[in-house]
Amino acid sequence: MTQVFYRSPAHSYPQISHGQGIYLFDQNGKRYLDGSSGALVANLGHGRREIAQAMAEQAERVAFAHTARFTSAAQEELAARIAAMLPYGLAHTYPVSGGSEATETAIKLARQYHLEHGDPGRFRILARWASYHGNSLGALAASGHIARRCPYLPLLSPAFAHFDPPREECPGPTSARECPCLASLRATMEQVDPFSVAAILLEPVGGSASSGLVPHRGYIAGVRTIADEFGVLLIADEVMTGFGRTGEILGMSHFSTAPDMITCAKGISGGYAPLGAVVANDRVYGAVAGGSGRFAHGFTYGGHPVSCAAGAKALALLEEEDLVANAARMGSLLRDGLEALRLRHGFIQAVRGLGLMQGLVLEPGPEPGARASRLADQAFDRGLIVYPGSGGPEGVEGDHVLVAPPLIIDSPGVDELLSLLDESIADPN
Ligand SMILES: Cc1ncc(COP(=O)(O)O)c(C=O)c1O
Repeated sequence: MTQVFYRSPAHSYPQISHGQGIYLFDQNGKRYLDGSSGALVANLGHGRREIAQAMAEQAERVAFAHTARFTSAAQEELAARIAAMLPYGLAHTYPVSGGSEATETAIKLARQYHLEHGDPGRFRILARWASYHGNSLGALAASGHIARRCPYLPLLSPAFAHFDPPREECPGPTSARECPCLASLRATMEQVDPFSVAAILLEPVGGSASSGLVPHRGYIAGVRTIADEFGVLLIADEVMTGFGRTGEILGMSHFSTAPDMITCAKGISGGYAPLGAVVANDRVYGAVAGGSGRFAHGFTYGGHPVSCAAGAKALALLEEEDLVANAARMGSLLRDGLEALRLRHGFIQAVRGLGLMQGLVLEPGPEPGARASRLADQAFDRGLIVYPGSGGPEGVEGDHVLVAPPLIIDSPGVDELLSLLDESIADPN
């Protein structure tokens, strides 16, 4: 009898023993290839002694000092590394403990930006259907994933409005005409009053709510143009895509479009410690630093020295080992292999994604999400971890799976992943 309140109390979970490279091992010695890096977290792979050592050294020196009173060398190093690595003048890091906290922080920072400019009527956040930005109530209100929202609808603030995600079949905008996807954003803006909107929030490449959905040509730049037209900030949710996952440093790098802020988490520390961040450009930072001089926000564990030490080391390794380029190379092998599986199994309707963030769209089953869960369970039984998802632009319908191994994977690792996935799909049970 356990005293743990599990995610699903009816389910029984194997106990994790240890991890090494792209593999996890349970207490019974069973090996799992971590084909989704958990939930696109373990980008550096498992069992990295260098990161464990950096954390231990920090904990021994000092584990906690409140950021209302102190900064730390670890926090300074993390922020300096991020500023050196990121494009678009994203140079001001506000550390938090995960993706949902990063979303909450970005929403409040957008609100404060407009307050600093003497524009208190701006508060709304526009986000998309079939998106996921976190499970805390503000982040969930922003998220457009119906199944996650449904039980909590009465608690979700009406300050959030949603527009359509980009359609894969959309030919994109022309110089004369916005495409229907951008028209949906403009219509939503106009419906709520564009001058009440503080920010637009979007995932550059779809994560758990749309497994690898890549926006069409001209879409992201078109969103930026509409944001600028109405004086609205653009926040890119890079919690999954950030720091190399898609084969570029940011998801936004594929679209050559600058956001005002990004949210990040997961890969930033490779999961070695709970860590997230909002990284802002000069426009946003300057409004606060040169305005009231204080961001009216804060979490006890924001800037935790041990988490920052883990993040700083993880980012150092990402650079030293050239893992962003590896994600692009291995991503293209993985994509080819997944396309080959699609040709063999009609059950896979489409493959989409960038770099080592690839999504399989599955033939729908009788119950939304059941097919994806079953495939993930079959894979787990065979020693492969993939990340199932459900829902789509029309609502709860849609089964998909993310395949996103650690960025350290090599080509034999990709082959092994593909062959385990092939067997799992062919499994009749
Ligand atoms: C794109 C995106 N944003 C935000 C979050 C929330 O992050 P966390 O679970 O660390 O709170 C997630 C988590 O999966 C995510 O995928």
